Amino acid sequence: MQYEEFRQAGHNLIDYIADYLQQVENKPLFNDVEPSVLNDLFNEAIPDVPQSLDGIQKMLEEKLIPYCTHVNHPGYMGLITPSPNAAGILGDLLASALNQNLGAYTISPSATAMELRVIHWLNDLIGYDEKAGGNLTSGGMMANFIGLKLARDFTTKNKAQHDGINGGWAVYVSEERHVSIDKAVDAIGLGRNNLRALSTDEKFQLRIDALEEALQKDKAAGIKPLCIVGLAGTTNLGAVDDLENLHHIAVREGCWFHVDAAYGGGMLLSDKNKNILKGLHLADSVTIDPHKWFYAPLDCGAVLVKDHDQLTRSFGIQHAYLTDQSKKNNERYQFYVHGFEQSKRFRSLKVWMSFQHYGKTQIGKWVDDNVAQAMYLHTLVINDNDFESATQPKMSAICIRYKNELLSNETLTQLHRDVAARIEKEGNFWFATTELKGITWFRINPVNIHTTMQTMDALFKTLQQYCKEAAEKMKMVK
Ligand SMILES: Cc1ncc(COP(=O)(O)O)c(C=O)c1O
Repeated sequence: MQYEEFRQAGHNLIDYIADYLQQVENKPLFNDVEPSVLNDLFNEAIPDVPQSLDGIQKMLEEKLIPYCTHVNHPGYMGLITPSPNAAGILGDLLASALNQNLGAYTISPSATAMELRVIHWLNDLIGYDEKAGGNLTSGGMMANFIGLKLARDFTTKNKAQHDGINGGWAVYVSEERHVSIDKAVDAIGLGRNNLRALSTDEKFQLRIDALEEALQKDKAAGIKPLCIVGLAGTTNLGAVDDLENLHHIAVREGCWFHVDAAYGGGMLLSDKNKNILKGLHLADSVTIDPHKWFYAPLDCGAVLVKDHDQLTRSFGIQHAYLTDQSKKNNERYQFYVHGFEQSKRFRSLKVWMSFQHYGKTQIGKWVDDNVAQAMYLHTLVINDNDFESATQPKMSAICIRYKNELLSNETLTQLHRDVAARIEKEGNFWFATTELKGITWFRINPVNIHTTMQTMDALFKTLQQYCKEAAEKMKMVK
């Protein structure tokens, strides 16, 4: 490798990235190109003729960047992928250069100390004490899986990890769960039919009476509770379950209490709004994704565990080729003995650099700004008789819809999809559609440093105009 070329190309690339971040607003947020065009663009044999790094950058500028979804664009308010903060971007670059492998201490001594510290910070934010531990993961999906595996091992007194699951067990969660809970229930060997997806109230919180009823019914049939999963920031609406009550029931039933705060965990950084997560510290394990509302670049999820030793009990298989000194004082901490992954990216560096560069208060202000933007959109919506908002947003996620009594439910579903597709095509905004209690909504979620109140004004004006135009057309067609 020619390091002079690397140096020059690296400077050029950083210049390019800085310009990209500053000017991204002028790009179409989403390029509605046919997937086959992209497959053709990359329909190339394994290259064998060396290209210069600058030449490769030019190729990327032509073939890759124009077809990216620009999550840094202020109009990006879609699936929960933040605009990454600049310090975090540099952190990931350095992590790749150092290529520390967090699986084993000997390939990552100082990185292990940093990773443990970042986990400690997350545990402090939750309100856990010194006994707590955790793992940084690829994301919330993997963190929820680990949380459910800990639940299985705790509740079966570590038998299931040797003998497999014996007897009937069930996991309880609200219908507003993320699909990662379904996948985790499958992956720990329980079977998805043993997931009880329970109804929610008008605030989209798990109904305690529905939980009690399901527990009674299962117990009468000989099925025991393995875990209650609380949601602290649902994907659709940022709703938060009654965590204190769920904890109380989990203790009474002798089962594990896991909380999915993959998205909502960002509220812990907010001085204004953090009380919304009241009771989070009572959970046995918690999922929080710094790559969501801490504005860290992908990937960095986290599973935080109230009692660190549960991790060791659940994952502490040691291989002869990996020595562990965890019984010594001042131990060499081996993540592979206390977690699922072995080779492990140095995920904490970008989070550590983000906190060092901006400070917790600033990151919390970004969170508060996003909450205020969702609240502002809610106010615009409730002042327009043609629109409704599912509920007053507690976080940045808000679901709104166009109402029209002349149109059937199916036609309205089509209308929402058509309007979202039209907006996607234009490239000024991107958001998703979703279903809540059987009807279709626009699901809008700014987890974005660049979004402003003006962006929300412009978005709502566009929605008002396009929904009316679509309704006119549909009435004519009817
Ligand atoms: C509440 C919740 N849990 C878990 C996940 C999964 O997280 P990831 O995409 O990081 O795997 C998401 C993703 O949006 C989520 O909203």
